Amino acid sequence: MIEGKTIALRCLEQDDLPLVAQWRNQQEIRRSFFHKALIPLSGQRKWYERYLDKGTDQIFVAVTVPDGRPVGMIGLYRIDPLNHKAELGSTIVGDRSQWGKGLGSEMISLLLDYAFTDLNLNRVYAYAIDYNQASVKAKLKCGFTIEGTMREDHYTNGRYHDVYLLGITRADWEKRAASVDG
Ligand SMILES: CC(C)(COP(=O)(O)OP(=O)(O)OC[C@H]1O[C@@H](n2cnc3c(N)ncnc32)[C@H](O)[C@@H]1OP(=O)(O)O)[C@@H](O)C(=O)NCCC(=O)NCCS
Repeated sequence: MIEGKTIALRCLEQDDLPLVAQWRNQQEIRRSFFHKALIPLSGQRKWYERYLDKGTDQIFVAVTVPDGRPVGMIGLYRIDPLNHKAELGSTIVGDRSQWGKGLGSEMISLLLDYAFTDLNLNRVYAYAIDYNQASVKAKLKCGFTIEGTMREDHYTNGRYHDVYLLGITRADWEKRAASVDG
């Protein structure tokens, strides 16, 4: 368990899959992801089996403190022990009425804390499609920098969109933590 003030992150379990599929399949959430197809529960189960087999990712469910109600999910993907880096992805606040209240930023912040402290990573990176300002802003708020723009990298609904590469290093994170504490 990764404990925060209003939420905690716990490991994704098989029993979470129906809820995850429900979150993931909402139109507005699907459209924010690179893969926009609806995923049936059977597909979600296969995805979970592959996740367990690969062993390179860590996916968490965000739950409220202290009652443990699931409110979202977030993951670290392609954890690379040679280069001490991983990709942050699958950030979802499941209930749209809860967007914009700081939950997404708290989830990202907790995951970064875990990545840099417990996993000893040196770099966390993420991708965001240009129209997903909530995703970009939540990451910037947590200390990420836009490191590059992949022009016209993503095609959806009849047009090309830029994709931003965002990153945060351990040095960035330590500097930010010192300024928040001080
Ligand atoms: C992206 C997401 C996780 C952000 O979580 P959230 O709880 O809504 O975000 P927060 O409340 O922590 O807000 C973080 C920042 O983004 C801003 N923001 C939130 N929603 C926004 C929107 N729709 N447009 C522009 N800015 C937005 C907030 O104002 C805040 O910035 P500020 O503190 O400078 O004002 C959430 O909106 C979500 O689940 N979206 C659908 C799934 C998704 O897009 N995932 C990311 C895929 S890459």
